[in-house]
Amino acid sequence: MIKLQRKKMLVIAAVTAVTTLMIVSFKPDDQQEPKKLKNIKVFPATATYNEVDHAMDEFKVELGVKCNYCHAPSKADPKKMDMASDENPKKDIARDMMRMTDELNKKYISLIPHADTVKVQAVTCNTCHRGVAKPNAPLPVQQKWPGPPPAAGTPPPPKQGK
Ligand code: HEC
Ligand code: HEC
Repeated sequence: MIKLQRKKMLVIAAVTAVTTLMIVSFKPDDQQEPKKLKNIKVFPATATYNEVDHAMDEFKVELGVKCNYCHAPSKADPKKMDMASDENPKKDIARDMMRMTDELNKKYISLIPHADTVKVQAVTCNTCHRGVAKPNAPLPVQQKWPGPPPAAGTPPPPKQGK
């Protein structure tokens, strides 16, 4: 009877040990080695991978593009992206845009006097881009214009309303 009890205990101990090992070796994503930044020139040196990643999601939305608009494919595996590469020239344009935006805020926007309760509205990529990569493209209202102006002699359109 006592012997059986001991055997049971041993089995339980062994199972516990194995489960503990499994739990220890299994780390959820956020507990793994933090991803390192390799080629940062504009973000502050203190920026974390997650902060940069978050800013990237904003760039994507504010310019209405995908990551590969500014990032080059990996040389080793062209199906993947190499985020640290500077091969795509749009990436350096974006770096200058970051410097420009920062300067606009520091040199101009921050000097605008506001009542105590009003928060300064910082310039962001979206201030100019509004979801498009080329903010100087014609306004949608111009693109919707039906065509060239009417030829001379065309009767004016009937008056609308009262
Ligand atoms: C408008 C251009 C632009 C877009 C779009 C963009 N990025 Fe970036 N990305 C940059 C620039 C510029 C840097 C470098 C910033 C610096 O030098 O401080 C960068 C850096 C990075 C880095 C850091 C690489 C390293 O280790 O040095 C990662 C990771 C990254 N981007 C991921 C993404 C992902 C994911 C997306 C899509 C969601 C994305 N980026 C979209 C411009 C862009
Ligand atoms: C003050 C307005 C303004 C702000 C703020 C601004 N941009 Fe721009 N951006 C422009 C203009 C205008 C162009 C077009 C310049 C040209 O091609 O002549 C441009 C072009 C670009 C391009 C090149 C697009 C292409 O396909 O040629 C990228 C990339 C870009 N901006 C990224 C950014 C990012 C990222 C931010 C925020 C960090 C930003 N911009 C903030 C005005 C702005």
